[in-house]
Amino acid sequence: MLDFKVKVIDLLQEEIDALSREEISALIEIPPSYDLGDYAFPVFRLSKVFRKAPNIIAEELVGKLGQNEYFEKIENKGPYVNFFINRAKLVETVVEEVRAKADNYGATDVGQGRTVIVEYSSPNIAKPFHIGHIRTTVIGNALYKIYKFLGFNTIAINHLGDYGTQFGMLISAYKKWGDREVIEQDPINELLKLYVRFNKEADEDESLRDEARYWFKELENNNEEAYALWEWIREISLKEFNKVYDMLNIKFDSYAGESFYSDKMPRVIEELKEKDLLKESEGAYIVDLEEYDMPPALIQKSDGSTLYITRDIAAAIYRKEHYDFYKNIYVVASQQNLHFKQWFKVLELMGYEWAKDCIHVPFGMVSLEDGTLSTRKGRVVFLEDVLKKAVAGIMEIMEERNPDLENKEEVAKQVGIGAVVFQELFNQRIKDYVFSWDKVLSFEGETGPYVQYTHARANSLLERGSFNIADDVDYGLLLSEDEINIIRLIYDFPKVVIDAMEKYEPFYITRQVVEIAKAFNKFYNSSQIIVEDEELKKARLMLTYMVKNTIKIGLGLLGIEAPNKM
Ligand code: ARG
Repeated sequence: MLDFKVKVIDLLQEEIDALSREEISALIEIPPSYDLGDYAFPVFRLSKVFRKAPNIIAEELVGKLGQNEYFEKIENKGPYVNFFINRAKLVETVVEEVRAKADNYGATDVGQGRTVIVEYSSPNIAKPFHIGHIRTTVIGNALYKIYKFLGFNTIAINHLGDYGTQFGMLISAYKKWGDREVIEQDPINELLKLYVRFNKEADEDESLRDEARYWFKELENNNEEAYALWEWIREISLKEFNKVYDMLNIKFDSYAGESFYSDKMPRVIEELKEKDLLKESEGAYIVDLEEYDMPPALIQKSDGSTLYITRDIAAAIYRKEHYDFYKNIYVVASQQNLHFKQWFKVLELMGYEWAKDCIHVPFGMVSLEDGTLSTRKGRVVFLEDVLKKAVAGIMEIMEERNPDLENKEEVAKQVGIGAVVFQELFNQRIKDYVFSWDKVLSFEGETGPYVQYTHARANSLLERGSFNIADDVDYGLLLSEDEINIIRLIYDFPKVVIDAMEKYEPFYITRQVVEIAKAFNKFYNSSQIIVEDEELKKARLMLTYMVKNTIKIGLGLLGIEAPNKM
């Protein structure tokens, strides 16, 4: 698609030898309001070269730039040269691009030939999949889709927490008090009960901890009984997690969790020894990170068992060898910042230059309005229940708004779940936020249902007006302020997707689709779309189509569906 900023650079470069293209590009600003043009170039940097006052330089530059087809006006305001895009050219550019690319509008092949791993969700088995897990799951899924859309070979990995000493406890507890049938009825709650009971009794009776250690060791030694129990726990847990993944329409390419690396750790430990990075400390092995102002990385405990961090190091090395990634992204809460800093440093000390391609994408906390979230004290809010409640809430609203809708249940699911995901991706990820039922279920304001509803409205206009994408459009009929505002937002969409990818911030896309929906509704409220005048109707339907198409693509990248009717 024609890039107007590149045209600005081209024009300026012809007149300015003192600055490189990159320098010019870096100086170009987007003015705070369109009265000042679409792009502005401040000339301060040139005053040394030309030895003139900035205002004069700007004025002379405007004189030299003259007329051209891309900008309807180039003028200076003080020391700035302001460029006003030729609106008809803008409309033409966007319409032609959308027409040519349709569902792929905004997609590129920047990622071709590169593999990106997005690791996300990664819950611990035998533990509740609770509302706190929504963040990594939804942010990770959006990043996965964004990378894929931009042509990367993208691998979604669920690094299940399926290994560690807690499984020694669970095995012990199961052998003492477990009942297979009871557990299979309600796996997570029952396993959690066993876990809690074990911990409580172990507080009284220390020998239980030894027993747990024994069973974890046995698991590491591939003891048949221990292995079979562990495998069963993993399976019934995954079945529960998959209910949520199905609701969210999320699929992983790999569920290689922590256990997958159990046989890959000895090699890492050997390597750390060879590279002289391991230090013995009371029978345990650590990598000293004092020089880097971090606590040591505990690699192996004195009883020989390995740790979470050891498995992360082994996993990264495996992934590099197996996938040869361009980037290896971890969508994990900011509570684990130190953990990631520590083991990224260990990789670096091991001499792996690709350590820099391992990226931790942290995020803040979600809490509920009544303050419930903690897994302790048993006040767990299951994510599955939240999603179900959202669907039920939307169902109720739809019974009122549109009782005759076909596939009401299907649509309620798409809207209810979409609403939760949308709220999740509405803010910068690092910010904490409070989950609000009122906001989630609202059809007004900056919400998922509002955007989805706008999409459905656009769709019904297209149907009623018998829109045909191949129809010729008179670009001159889409030049009003309201229309140009919509077109600008659509024009910017591909750049927004790139920004979201580069900054690992899906919320840029969320904001852009809300802005598009708002701009379209403003236009819709002031102008009729299906009008008598055929030419005008065709032009307005094309605009409507572009809105619908961009919203659909944007929501899709966020992992949200866009029903055609609601
Ligand atoms: N299972 C961990 C937890 O629930 C998250 C795993 C994050 N990923 C990683 N590679 N360390 O806290």
